[in-house]
Amino acid sequence: MIKVETKYALLQEDLLSYQEEVNRIHEMIDNKTGKGNDFLGWVDWPDTYDKEEFERIIEVSEEVKANADVLLVCGIGGSYLGARSAIEMMNGLYPQRKPEIIFIGNTFSSTYLKQVCDYIKDKSFYVNVISKSGTTTETSIAFRFLKNMVEEKYGEEASQRIIATTDKARGTLKALAAQKGYRTFVIPDDIGGRYSVFTAVGLLPIACAGVDIRELMRGSKAAMDDFRNPDLHVNSAYQYAVLRRMMEKQGKSAEMLVTYDLSMTMITEWWKQLFGESEGKEGKGILPTSGTFSTDLHSLGQFVQEGKKMLFETLLLVEKPMLDMTFPTDDENLDNMNYLSGKSIDWVNKMACLGTLEAHVEQGNVPNIVLTLEDNSAYSYGYMIYFFFKACAMSCYMLDINPFNQPGVEVYKKNMFRLLGKE
Ligand code: PA5
Repeated sequence: MIKVETKYALLQEDLLSYQEEVNRIHEMIDNKTGKGNDFLGWVDWPDTYDKEEFERIIEVSEEVKANADVLLVCGIGGSYLGARSAIEMMNGLYPQRKPEIIFIGNTFSSTYLKQVCDYIKDKSFYVNVISKSGTTTETSIAFRFLKNMVEEKYGEEASQRIIATTDKARGTLKALAAQKGYRTFVIPDDIGGRYSVFTAVGLLPIACAGVDIRELMRGSKAAMDDFRNPDLHVNSAYQYAVLRRMMEKQGKSAEMLVTYDLSMTMITEWWKQLFGESEGKEGKGILPTSGTFSTDLHSLGQFVQEGKKMLFETLLLVEKPMLDMTFPTDDENLDNMNYLSGKSIDWVNKMACLGTLEAHVEQGNVPNIVLTLEDNSAYSYGYMIYFFFKACAMSCYMLDINPFNQPGVEVYKKNMFRLLGKE
């Protein structure tokens, strides 16, 4: 479940007054009649996903876990952010387990590419290359290096070590995989990149990281069932969507998604892509930005408190932390920290959150929407992701925008291809 609290949101309107508009758009989403409706496959995916492929994902993940020191996940945008966000949220940043999951193919940084290639040279590794189009340049460049390394290191066994997740029939990667005999998983036609974490795109790397993907899908299904009822008294995804539009009406042009846990930072990166690519069109949309507090209170905090009043914050809180520690007593108390003796670090974090809420809302006049998740389990992750999918679709349709294309992304690519001399 996700709880939405509005007591810090400084609302100037009644949320429930949007019910009629929400009902109309809900029909469009669930009956798949809105703009971009050929990309609404994610809506009932927690019911309709390919069960056979799901079992194959688990099987392959067992093989990878048994044989690899490192799994390289080669993809960009929707082809990596979901998996990375899930793995960090559920395993933390130093999981100390095998295989180590390394994300590559999401940058043109030559330093990063070279360092990863050097790092894996003497390790046992598998590659999962992920691209729906099969032609994304960042991914294709990294993959060529990885393919060469795998072929050199594993010879005949190379085709066993590379797994391709791509379109079922089209694209360069699909053709290459067929030619080389790689195992493949499918990205369905009606699910776009940023809505694909519940497909093999996310599930294979997540399963390789030791996460129970059955639980994850169970969470997504629970959310799907809960959000079939459009009633704004109970539908938290639609509450959040409407609150975003209300914030916009109150003059806010940016939303900062804030977490209080470093292992949730990639969730905010995933969320930025979801809302940025879905909503930022036709001169409309709220700029999605993010912060991990209290870390960023020592950088962005100043702007939030006293800078231009252009933003609202959405807190994404987790009730139970994955791990906790008790602050130790020190007889000498040279650091004067004994006032915290016996307190849990998570309690300190929660007090920091309360103090910040008071500062930003009451003293800074910055509205805060508070979303609370129970824990960082696979179930909660699945629930939360579906919550954001549904909220995003509602939010975009309220602006009469197609949430499922990204025409603006092509502009830099065209210019870059010209400069690179691509035909
Ligand atoms: O959401 C999207 O569709 C995009 O962000 C894509 O995921 C991203 O551009 C990668 O595309 P592809 O999977 O075709 O390599």
